[in-house]
Amino acid sequence: MKSKYQKIKGTFDILPPETEVWQHIESTIHHICQQFSFQEIRTPAIESVDLFKRNIGDGTDVSKEMFVWKDQSGKEISLKPEMTAPVVRAYIESGFFRKYPLCKMYYIDSFFRREKPQKGRQRQFNQFGVEAFGTKNSEQDAEIILIATQILKKLNIDNTNLSINNIGDSDTRIKYESKLRNYFNDHKNSLSELSKARLEKNPMRILDSKEKEDQTIIKNAPMIKDLLSTEEKEHFSSVLTHLKGLGINYNENPYLVRGLDYYNGTTFEITTQSTGSQNALCGGGRYDSLVEKMGGPETPAVGFAAGIERIILEAKQELGKKNIDIYISCNDEKYTSKGLNIIQNLVENEYKIFFDTNKKNIKNQIKDAVKNNAKFMITINQEISVKNLISKKETNVSESEILPFLKNQ
Ligand code: HAM
Repeated sequence: MKSKYQKIKGTFDILPPETEVWQHIESTIHHICQQFSFQEIRTPAIESVDLFKRNIGDGTDVSKEMFVWKDQSGKEISLKPEMTAPVVRAYIESGFFRKYPLCKMYYIDSFFRREKPQKGRQRQFNQFGVEAFGTKNSEQDAEIILIATQILKKLNIDNTNLSINNIGDSDTRIKYESKLRNYFNDHKNSLSELSKARLEKNPMRILDSKEKEDQTIIKNAPMIKDLLSTEEKEHFSSVLTHLKGLGINYNENPYLVRGLDYYNGTTFEITTQSTGSQNALCGGGRYDSLVEKMGGPETPAVGFAAGIERIILEAKQELGKKNIDIYISCNDEKYTSKGLNIIQNLVENEYKIFFDTNKKNIKNQIKDAVKNNAKFMITINQEISVKNLISKKETNVSESEILPFLKNQ
């Protein structure tokens, strides 16, 4: 049978048992972020188009790919394509900048970009991320990267590469752009069509090109590090010293530019070494002027976001294992009330149960219990029997004996 309705292109249902993997990942994120005393922030799914256009950059791919419409009053609304601009908006609007001079927040949320769907690239996708406001110190850059690596480590994702760069402030970037433009202009004839189109408006984006013919030209392009101020160089070198001290491997990538306009200083990306073009798991960096640009006080900031779908593609999780503690069979209606009371009591005592409300015959229930890795099966009739599904030993117990009996197993 075919459903009358299909999901919208680029969106996905997350169905059980995969939801268990999501829950595991989400609880790991909550746990680790809270260990670092980052607090969760949630913002609306919709924002004004202007918030993104002005702040992530009008010419960026992300801004061009937004889902945008006019509401009934004619206001231009967008589904959020990323979280940094909304977090900064909320940070200023709520007055948090007064309350928390050093403010550390994290999020897990859905985002929307009208990209061409492919493996690891969706139109609705999920990110977790962290943002820290209030300090320029390199320790904050290091803490942010440490959180990212701790979460990946806890999820057993080890096949990764951390690339890091410092892209200077906006003055440095204006100088660099003009240097790059001159350089690429000298090699214009050998550049790909896509890069030729980027040459005038955004030559830094050429550094991101995946086109084959661009690669040797990019390899010899001028590097931004030659234009950095002494202060920027010192900041970068102390971030690298912290990473070395933490034993976090990195590779300095002088051509790492990020696709959003608000960045300055440290930028980084964590990619997977598995094949596939969508190999960026995580990206972030400093955005020291964004709060001020959006109407707040001068407030340096740094953060990152990671794509949960891409992490799931990497995570070595076993899908489909339910691992319940106790399978409950209570097929005779005369004992339903007794059965429900037992279930209530077990759940209140932290057992994970599965109640076969379908009342399959006992043979099939045993099969089902074993398939779902249940440790025990409790059969409720006039008698109550507890079967240890590993030792296969079956014992009759009274209702009040169930809990002490289970505890002794
Ligand atoms: P971003 O690099 O645009 O950065 O996205 C971060 C991560 O989200 C990517 O590395 C990727 O894993 C995932 N991602 C992005 N687009 C898609 C998609 N269409 N489908 C699946 N996954 C996707 C930001 O969003 C910045 N706000 C990060 C940041 C936070 N910078 C500072 N603070």
